Amino acid sequence: MSVTEVDQSARSDSFPEGIAMQPREYSFEDLDAIPKYWNLDNPVLTHFENAFSIMIPPGERFFIDSVRAYEDRVTDDEGRALIEAFVRQEGLHGEAHDRFNASYERYGIDIARQEAYAAKVFRRARRWLPAKIQLGITVFSEHLTAVGAHTLLDAPEVEDEIDPQMLSFWRWHAAEELEHKSVAFDLFHRVGGGYATRMLSVLAAALFLAVPMVRITRALLREDPHQATAADRKQALAVQRRMGRRQLPLFLAYFKPGFHPWQIDDSGMLREWYRQGSLAQAS
Ligand SMILES: [Fe+2]
Ligand SMILES: [Fe+2]
Repeated sequence: MSVTEVDQSARSDSFPEGIAMQPREYSFEDLDAIPKYWNLDNPVLTHFENAFSIMIPPGERFFIDSVRAYEDRVTDDEGRALIEAFVRQEGLHGEAHDRFNASYERYGIDIARQEAYAAKVFRRARRWLPAKIQLGITVFSEHLTAVGAHTLLDAPEVEDEIDPQMLSFWRWHAAEELEHKSVAFDLFHRVGGGYATRMLSVLAAALFLAVPMVRITRALLREDPHQATAADRKQALAVQRRMGRRQLPLFLAYFKPGFHPWQIDDSGMLREWYRQGSLAQAS
């Protein structure tokens, strides 16, 4: 793993002890060395995650814009610094995923066409939805990514399942998602977002996130010259069930009226990721 800290770090007293938002640039050691099926050598699992990776750059630009739409309502230094660090982290995530996605073209799959489709979905969301719902989609998406991040950082078995370069890439993204998981949520409340709007945004997110995720996954599997087998599908289902069982209680916490992202305390696993990063740099 190669990460370089960049400017615009930020911290709030509402974060757990020892946690700060630190934007970092991610560099792949060798994109060409990443195997085609980098998750358990399974096309279904890999293309599902590839679809997520394709959704990330336009999705995160949408998240940034939904937050930027309300930044003039935040006038204190800490609040503004948190927004700037959020924008910087999400921007860097999108750039790194763009590099990975483009590299996948070498496998003969038209990634650019799927990227264009994902960008169109978010253009429509911008055009059709009110600003508060757009911010609500960001808040819910941040919850989903935080839940995914929590289970990825807390799953030692994935070290035998995921290609090491891809694992360090996803873990870098996961760690920064945990660092900034409360920023959009706190902004949403600050600008008057209530429970009903938060729930309505879940429905909007289902339409604008879940539907394209399924469509892109299917397209990748269809276009792949090597077709997935029934055994691949069975294995993918078993892995997704295993993850789903762990994620369900975390996911459901969002539907409590008094929910706040830091009620799920992932600071221990985040500190462990910091520790491993500093060990890697020292060695
Ligand atoms: Fe991100
Ligand atoms: Fe995020």
